Amino acid sequence: VTNEPHAAAPESFTATTDREPWGYYEQLRERHEVAWDPVLEAWAVVSYAGCKHLLRNDKRLVHHPAQDTPRDSPIYSSEGPMNTIFLDGEEHARVHTWWVRQFKAANIEGWRTHFIRPLVEQLIDGFAAGGQAELSRDLVEPLPIRVIAAIVGLPWEDDALIDRLKILFKIKLESFDGARATHGGPTAETDDVRQAQIDALLTASREFDRLVTPTIELRRRNRTGDMISKLWDDGAMLMQPFELREVCSAVYNVFFAGTDTTAHATRNALHTIATRRPIAEQVRAGGDRALVAFVEEVLRLTGTVHFRPRVADAEIALGEVTIRPGDRVVAMLMAANRDPERYHDPEVINLAREVPTDHLAFNFGPRFCAGAPLARAVIQEAVRGALERLPELRLDPEAERPRFSGFVLRSYQPLHVRCEPSGP
Ligand code: HEM
Repeated sequence: VTNEPHAAAPESFTATTDREPWGYYEQLRERHEVAWDPVLEAWAVVSYAGCKHLLRNDKRLVHHPAQDTPRDSPIYSSEGPMNTIFLDGEEHARVHTWWVRQFKAANIEGWRTHFIRPLVEQLIDGFAAGGQAELSRDLVEPLPIRVIAAIVGLPWEDDALIDRLKILFKIKLESFDGARATHGGPTAETDDVRQAQIDALLTASREFDRLVTPTIELRRRNRTGDMISKLWDDGAMLMQPFELREVCSAVYNVFFAGTDTTAHATRNALHTIATRRPIAEQVRAGGDRALVAFVEEVLRLTGTVHFRPRVADAEIALGEVTIRPGDRVVAMLMAANRDPERYHDPEVINLAREVPTDHLAFNFGPRFCAGAPLARAVIQEAVRGALERLPELRLDPEAERPRFSGFVLRSYQPLHVRCEPSGP
């Protein structure tokens, strides 16, 4: 299922909002390795090698534009001191390494067994017998938020809490989408609209703090091995001071970093399973190896996070251009993942690629995604559940078709499916 293809490459990446940008990436690649985007007001880097060069040199040649956010601004105050995007140098490296350690393989396998698989089973139980579902609502959206609640140590089975958290993160996402200064997205229509988004963001982040503070205070005195307890165990080594505000900020940011991102990627994986029967059969027949390779190929091809913005701190020669200090530059991660210089037949889902994990869906370099192992486990278990429990999964021919939508984060939705046997 594809949206309308682009007849001609639009002038700006922003024109691909709520559409498949694949044609745009190809047309841009044919003309340039690095192209000026007049709406983003940034250099767009489309090659795999160019993106890797930029991201490998993050914190040296470039920095994230959010780092220029004034420390007394409402945006900074809503995020708090543990948002890694605001951190730099040694302090960032320390906090980043800590996050990476939390997602080590042994932890992932424990969470996979104790939370992820049972949750997938429970969610599929909710609709399988009825023979149809909207997978986004019934399986994808409830999954990552509850998994993260479980690992940080919040009551993940508390429906009222989870529903409220979802609303608070939606408010944050709306503000994030309106923040052109941060990532080049579509601007809010007026200053008043932007101000209303920021006010709502501040109120939402304060409510989040109120909701999680009782658990965080409890763990300060009584550690149980969950992530909040580990933050109390190790916090003093990460930054000073390290108090309630720092723990709230860490918990807030890990939810935001891992919830919608994983949901979009899971939708893309399930969309592929529901629309490409031969691939689904190949994955089903290939066991765990094929499942892992399939998830990597979906991350590479449709991913979630389409680009990352940066600001140059030095002259950078890329392709035919020289990027000057102060210029904005955008790593087009999903264009890079389809670069024929790097991938043979890049458009093809190939479960036998030599290094299936070297794509840029999770970024690269000093700011690579710390939670990638958790995201992978969640997507794998959702796909495994669909293959094992819903063997006849296909799009519902009578319901609204999925469209590729979003700007920074993108996926196919809605996912109305049928899963009853399709007959002889
Ligand atoms: C498919 C799902 C995911 C995708 C595509 C994704 C992608 C990314 C990307 C592109 C970045 C770099 C941001 C930048 O520096 O511009 C990032 C950073 C990060 N991600 Fe993820 N992410 C996913 C899931 C998760 C999950 C599940 C968690 C944790 C529960 C997580 C935690 C983080 C953290 C802590 C960082 C900051 C790393 C740092 O700068 O030190 N992510 N992610």
